[in-house]
Amino acid sequence: MAASSAHVVVDLDVTGPTISKHLYGHFAEHLGRCIYGGFWVGEDSPIPNEGGLRLDVVDALRALEIPNLRWPGGCFADTYHWRDGVGPKQDRPAMVNSHWGGVEENNHFGTHEFMALCELLGAEPYVNGNVGSGTVQEMSEWVEYLTRDGDSPAVRLRKANGRDEPWKVRFWGIGNEAWGCGGHMRADTYADLAARYATFCHDHDGNQLHRIAAGAADDDLAWTEALMKTVNCLGCTSTPRDVFQAVSFHYYTHDGDGIAKNPAVEFTDEQHYRTMVKAADIDRVIAAHSAVMDAYDPRRRVGLVCDEWGTWWRAEPGTNKAFLYQQNTLRDALVAGLHFDIFHKHAARLRMANIAQTVNVLQAMILTDDDGGLVLTPTYHVFEMNKGHQDAASVPVHVIEKPAAVTVGDAELDVLSVSASTKGGTALVSLSNLALDTDTTVRLDLRGREVTAAQARILTADKPHAHNTGTAVDVVAPTGFPVTLGSGVLTAVLPPHSFATVALDLA
Ligand code: AHR
Repeated sequence: MAASSAHVVVDLDVTGPTISKHLYGHFAEHLGRCIYGGFWVGEDSPIPNEGGLRLDVVDALRALEIPNLRWPGGCFADTYHWRDGVGPKQDRPAMVNSHWGGVEENNHFGTHEFMALCELLGAEPYVNGNVGSGTVQEMSEWVEYLTRDGDSPAVRLRKANGRDEPWKVRFWGIGNEAWGCGGHMRADTYADLAARYATFCHDHDGNQLHRIAAGAADDDLAWTEALMKTVNCLGCTSTPRDVFQAVSFHYYTHDGDGIAKNPAVEFTDEQHYRTMVKAADIDRVIAAHSAVMDAYDPRRRVGLVCDEWGTWWRAEPGTNKAFLYQQNTLRDALVAGLHFDIFHKHAARLRMANIAQTVNVLQAMILTDDDGGLVLTPTYHVFEMNKGHQDAASVPVHVIEKPAAVTVGDAELDVLSVSASTKGGTALVSLSNLALDTDTTVRLDLRGREVTAAQARILTADKPHAHNTGTAVDVVAPTGFPVTLGSGVLTAVLPPHSFATVALDLA
């Protein structure tokens, strides 16, 4: 085994922007087996459930302290009519899920079921409204149905459906991928529409919406610019309108051959490295969107939101291709660890991120089967190991000496990734070794505050293809990790393809 060394300085007393807990957000779409079979099994299922919500899934997710859950899509959001999903289940009309396999959607999981799920998870709802095939009035009335206290027809309907009190809903999406499945619009067309829809999504009775405009694909900066011009009312005679409070973008990782092309579990060393290069490139993409936003909004009033991210592999053999069901290996976990380091670095502008998707779809935390089996994926463990960063203060990390970069086509990949944060009397450091065949001895100089204790955990396996299945659930699971601490210096040997966290107690 080859070996390398690294020297990193962490300034524990220099607090940077807060890492919003919402960077650890989630996404659940009516797609494949995410909702039906994943979150929802129905009240009559032999699988333990509360009001139809699958309890083993809820329990596993509670351990992640997931801050928000985006629903009902994705592409599905722009086909969804919320009135079809409220009221007695037997009266709810069915529809065709046209984006995802043309299967029948019976609307048994609707607004009330979603809000009950969020309450069980302790997560804030992020509701994504329908711009593509909906109306301004329909979206306006959904907001009213959910959040209004005073009397109105929508409120009377909510009460008739068994819910007297309004819910609190902060995060509100104005359509999805308007450049594609959300309506194939031009940026300026959508920007005007977003302003119009957002205007009629009112703040009712103390509920304050955080309206999120549907953003760019990858690094489509022109899209972001059109939205920023709109939010700041450039060329208008009035002052900035604050019609929406955030703009989003979506970023999926693959191995360079494109989404859905290659399998999740079988890959070559080169494909591993190409995947890491693609994952690392989100740094450039966030910086580029932020630069456009800075030009229109130097005070950073408008947030950037990456409300879909993750790996997108070819669907598992024998499954419906349109259901986007894929396995999840240690390689996926490394993508997640790398993304989080980059998200932390951009915490000043990046306010929310949502992995696609939570259960049974794309880079999932959990894979379920219909007999009640459940598997936690390597990605699940990264979310769990990293949860101490939620709402912590980012701190500067300086990589003074690093392992040799790996040349991947035209790119040079840094194989060591690090980020750190502090919260009160604790700190958390995350470390990834993306190399496939090199141990790295990392020396961390922990400056500015006295460190009294360190506890480390590691996620690794004999190969990056390692994954968990129903018959081998713990092939990739965190274990204790030996580190040496003395006089403000922590030393650890990171094995190849590993992700580790070090929790520090500070005096
Ligand atoms: O997450 C799967 C799909 O990817 C979403 O529905 C869509 O927004 C994106 O293209």
